[in-house]
Amino acid sequence: MVNPAWLPPEALRHLASRRAVVRSSGPVAQTVVDEITSAGGRVVSGETGTDPIDLHLGSGYGVGEQFSLQRRDGVTYVRAGDANGLLYGFFEVVRRGEAAFGADFPPEEHRPVMRRRMLDHWDNVDVHPVMGQVERGYSGGSLFWDAGRLTDDLDRVSTYARLIASTGINAVSVNNVNVSGAAFRLLTDRLDDVAALADRFRPYGIRTHLSVSFAAPIVLGGLSTADPLDPDVRTWWADAAARVYARIPDFGGFVVKADSEGQPGPFRYGRDHADGANLLADALAPHGGVVHWRAFVYNHRQDWRDRSTDRARAAYDHFAPLDGRFRDNAVVQVKYGPIDFQTREPVSPVILAMPDTALAVELQVTQEYTGQQKHACYLGPQWSELLGWDRVAGIAADGDGLVAVSNVGADGYWTGHPLAQANLYAFGRLAWNPRLDPAAILDEWTDLTFGPHLREPLHDILDHSWRAYESYTAPLGVGFMVRPGHHYGPDVDGYEYTPWGTYHFADRDGVGVDRTRATGTGFTGQYPEPWRDVYEHLDTCPDELLLFFHHVPYDHVLHSGRTVIQHIYDTHFAGAAEAERMRARWHEVRTVDPDLHAKVAALLDEQVRSATEWRDQINTYFFRKSGVPDAHGRRIH
Ligand code: GCU
Repeated sequence: MVNPAWLPPEALRHLASRRAVVRSSGPVAQTVVDEITSAGGRVVSGETGTDPIDLHLGSGYGVGEQFSLQRRDGVTYVRAGDANGLLYGFFEVVRRGEAAFGADFPPEEHRPVMRRRMLDHWDNVDVHPVMGQVERGYSGGSLFWDAGRLTDDLDRVSTYARLIASTGINAVSVNNVNVSGAAFRLLTDRLDDVAALADRFRPYGIRTHLSVSFAAPIVLGGLSTADPLDPDVRTWWADAAARVYARIPDFGGFVVKADSEGQPGPFRYGRDHADGANLLADALAPHGGVVHWRAFVYNHRQDWRDRSTDRARAAYDHFAPLDGRFRDNAVVQVKYGPIDFQTREPVSPVILAMPDTALAVELQVTQEYTGQQKHACYLGPQWSELLGWDRVAGIAADGDGLVAVSNVGADGYWTGHPLAQANLYAFGRLAWNPRLDPAAILDEWTDLTFGPHLREPLHDILDHSWRAYESYTAPLGVGFMVRPGHHYGPDVDGYEYTPWGTYHFADRDGVGVDRTRATGTGFTGQYPEPWRDVYEHLDTCPDELLLFFHHVPYDHVLHSGRTVIQHIYDTHFAGAAEAERMRARWHEVRTVDPDLHAKVAALLDEQVRSATEWRDQINTYFFRKSGVPDAHGRRIH
């Protein structure tokens, strides 16, 4: 039995025996009808006026996906701009439970802040020899692909669509951005597979997108070039897009990783990323599609001896000068931080540097660098902090929206760690409204999934879990002290002498990367005022990002009053202790399904083991480098 996640039958019990009118037609409206019926409600015609009704779902509020809720004359009215709005209004009624049918329910208006709320799946069609079926997947196999074939279990795709639609997701990309093997052919002779997935997403208001390779005209079309300005290449892409739309009329568009970590791109032809993105944008434009062109472009063959190259600078250096040159339907998709989904990074300066380009901000729900769904790490607070920072949410809202790498797979609990479902839920809700409080989102998820009795323990375990993870893995903005390749567990120097550009530069005197304009790589200069100066100077740089921007001696005193070395020791002891506390708290929880309880308990055992390993390796490493003893005399190996 597949775990129902946050939509178990009990979450819809308030609809049982309610009578509803649904004044809309089409596949998405039919989904609403089916939801009401399967929850035990009755959909009635409402024509005669004799049938009393409880719920009325129809049109008449604004445009697009927005909806209003109103209680009048004993009836709850959901009025929406379109069928998606109706579906979202329905799920809002589900979330509100009995209260949505109470006499004192006040009128409300709801509107998505982000126009596109998208999940990218890094699912391979074939099993990749290194990455497996899902790149950076921690939840078993793929929902969509099974060793080269389309899954037999398309009903599970529908169940997934239902879950994510209930949070407001309206776009999904179904294959890995690193396109390899059979995945190339999804664009051509395997298009039926994509269409089969689109058929499952459509009733939930979700449009299907596809990752494509920039080299497709060569690999699939037999052309000798993929040069974006070559007329044959342009024709090839236009024809390819036309064939996709002939088969899938509501297809969303393409996702492209180009000139990044070995993927082909426009650089080979002496063209830039605007040339590349516009090629695909032009092919998609006649059909209303968009290209999501990723800005994750950097030199992954760097010489670690070269102190002048700074990976943090790369995306801005490549993309900011191109602002204004992208077509309206060419979306530049920017990772939230300048490096790579680390536990703590500053906001990517690219987000603030391209006012004349449609941007999408990319997050990682899959926990590649935040515990790989073995650690309980609720990312709502991280995303909320990011989206609350300066103009970030507004820029994404004015542009294309919010995208995240999904954390879902074939696993029985969907997300490997059952509590990682909260991250998937929170992403959708924050994309709908970035101002929602992550603690309130956790309440929603808990109430739907388990019932309100679990609110208190789950807050206790999850509210601070991201900061706990940060404290035992990533002090003061240092990232990448992970085992190379799979990225789980500590290895302080694992990446230090590699070509990947992810260094911490610890020596006997100090640690951190000098990214100042005065003496370092100049990265601080990529920020607008006031941030370029805030980050430039030691006295204004926030503690949690100090070592991201500065190389300082171990006895440098933080704003907190502690030295850098003492901060490292203290946070690692505290973080590992917090993992133990989280585990103890879970053992007090009695009222959940025993299998789920045991699964989470086993994962928390691993979290404690791993956090202890992190604590000991990091503390020992920095003790050996610095020779400075712990002020509290605790055991450092
Ligand atoms: C990270 C991740 C890769 C992924 C890449 C990307 O580097 O480790 O597996 O391909 O991000 O975002 O494209």
